[in-house]
Amino acid sequence: MKNGKFLTLAIESSCDETSAAVVADGRTVLSNIISSQIAIHTAFGGVVPEIASRHHLQNMNTVIDQALKEADVDFSQIDLLGVTCGPGLVGALLMGVATAKAISFARGIPLVGVNHMYGHISANFIAYPELEPPFLCLIVSGGHTNLVEMTDYVQCRVLGATRDDAAGEAYDKVARVIGLGYPGGPKIDRVAAEGDPQAIAFKRVYLEKDSLDFSFSGLKTAVLNYLNTERQAGREIRTADVAASFQAAVVDVIVAKTMKAAERTGQKQLVLAGGVAANSRLRADLHQACEKRGIRLYVPQPVLCTDNAAMIGCAAYYKYKASGPDDLYLDAYPDLAI
Ligand code: KG4
Ligand code: ZN
Repeated sequence: MKNGKFLTLAIESSCDETSAAVVADGRTVLSNIISSQIAIHTAFGGVVPEIASRHHLQNMNTVIDQALKEADVDFSQIDLLGVTCGPGLVGALLMGVATAKAISFARGIPLVGVNHMYGHISANFIAYPELEPPFLCLIVSGGHTNLVEMTDYVQCRVLGATRDDAAGEAYDKVARVIGLGYPGGPKIDRVAAEGDPQAIAFKRVYLEKDSLDFSFSGLKTAVLNYLNTERQAGREIRTADVAASFQAAVVDVIVAKTMKAAERTGQKQLVLAGGVAANSRLRADLHQACEKRGIRLYVPQPVLCTDNAAMIGCAAYYKYKASGPDDLYLDAYPDLAI
């Protein structure tokens, strides 16, 4: 406790960010240290799991020390430990889980394993202190694309999911084939701003009439086919146009399905979560669509959209309040469902 506030120390290591945060009363961030490995993985064109694990191991203690220091607290003041236990890369997750269990055991601090997806959703409770469930949530990250209805702080109903690639995965793969490299999302976002989104008519994949599911793998193939055809014909490829047209195809479908979900559930609050929520076109188009329908849109600042431990601290706090601590048998669950 500090000044009467309940303190959670949170750890996130599910992919390529080593992060630790101290969160007060579940919603106030005292520190949120993020050590990104992007520069390391760029040389390989994507995240190399084994290298990610090794860097988590190297950075973990420093990142935790920094988080405590910046929050001006020590272990004796921490009331709860929260750690991402899935989904994610198993070796990367294990680094965080093992660290959290060791601290929990050594210091006698209760421990809670957090589902990374609930972490992404919870970023909104930090960004918007007045936000309360129920609400509709669009989760668009590198590993997941989901439309869910949050019924309370710790439970949700899944309305739709991707059947193949996640939205962020599609961005990353397309960025690679058009020569933008890793990480693809922010790069396509930037380059697309100079391109014409109507230059190439990539097909919008809506699946069955009433489905709220997504499919992005066909779009990736369509981009590849377009590039091959143009190259074979000896025509110049305008990367900015390809990026803008691809992005338009992804965003159009996401916006349409999200609005359909809002209509179906009657929810008037829409919350965005996950790395792709940082995308400027998605934000702008959703903003417009929501305004038309009287829906309030919640979009956390980009640093809270991508992987960070503060969001895990918030989710840990609500999970602990709802169902108490986990024991030291807590493990890493790479395929943990939402
Ligand atoms: O949520 P996140 O940090 O990690 C996962 O849990 O997956 O999301 C990372 C994903 C990557 O695929 C990245 O390319 C994408 O989010 N991303 C973006 C943008 N910023 C990050 N995609 C589109 N536009 C962006 N501005
Ligand atoms: Zn994530």
